[in-house]
Amino acid sequence: TTYRVGYFVGSLATHSINRTLSKALIRLAPSDLEFFEIPIKDLPLYSYDYDSDYPAAGKELKGAIASADAVIFVTPEYNRSIPGALKNAIDWASRPWGSNSFADKPSAVIGASPGTLGTALAQQSLRAVLSFCNSPQMNAPEAYVRFNPDVFTSDGEVTEEKTENFLRNFMKEFRDHVVRVLTVLPRKP
Ligand code: FNR
Repeated sequence: TTYRVGYFVGSLATHSINRTLSKALIRLAPSDLEFFEIPIKDLPLYSYDYDSDYPAAGKELKGAIASADAVIFVTPEYNRSIPGALKNAIDWASRPWGSNSFADKPSAVIGASPGTLGTALAQQSLRAVLSFCNSPQMNAPEAYVRFNPDVFTSDGEVTEEKTENFLRNFMKEFRDHVVRVLTVLPRKP
């Protein structure tokens, strides 16, 4: 079996270090995980005025999540919390009321920043949101990546063995989490 994983990059920046991290995670993931990006940059700002007639961008977002066996969030920390663009995407996906796309969808969170906290506070905020959205999250391991540009090439090669092993193990644990959740909560056809 292969599992389809939708990944969110929480940054819209051209040279995003979190996008680089996402490339590294894809390289180091077990071979039974298959990845596709769930884009967030073209979503308008959410309002419940849209609920009666979701625009194409909102429908595509929800369709992408529905087509995934699991999702992973690779996100920066902005002002000690979730970047607005990512929170906006989550709000879109959680609605219209009664059709929350994250319900029973296995997830994991990870992020990189140049600072020592490595997005820990953003991840805590994001975990609270995903809890409310009823997504079974991987609790452990956690991954707070202090981004060192000497350790990651721009196409996601990891040149330091310790970091490489750490990220490879994170993705292996994520795969195991996805398998466990899908055993209890199989996806509805
Ligand atoms: C930041 N940055 C940042 N870093 C951090 O560790 N904690 C924080 O709270 C913040 N806050 C913050 C707010 C805003 C508006 C910006 C633009 C930046 C720095 C941030 O980690 C750095 O810019 C990273 O490069 C962002 O990740 P991407 O966008 O490169 O993936």
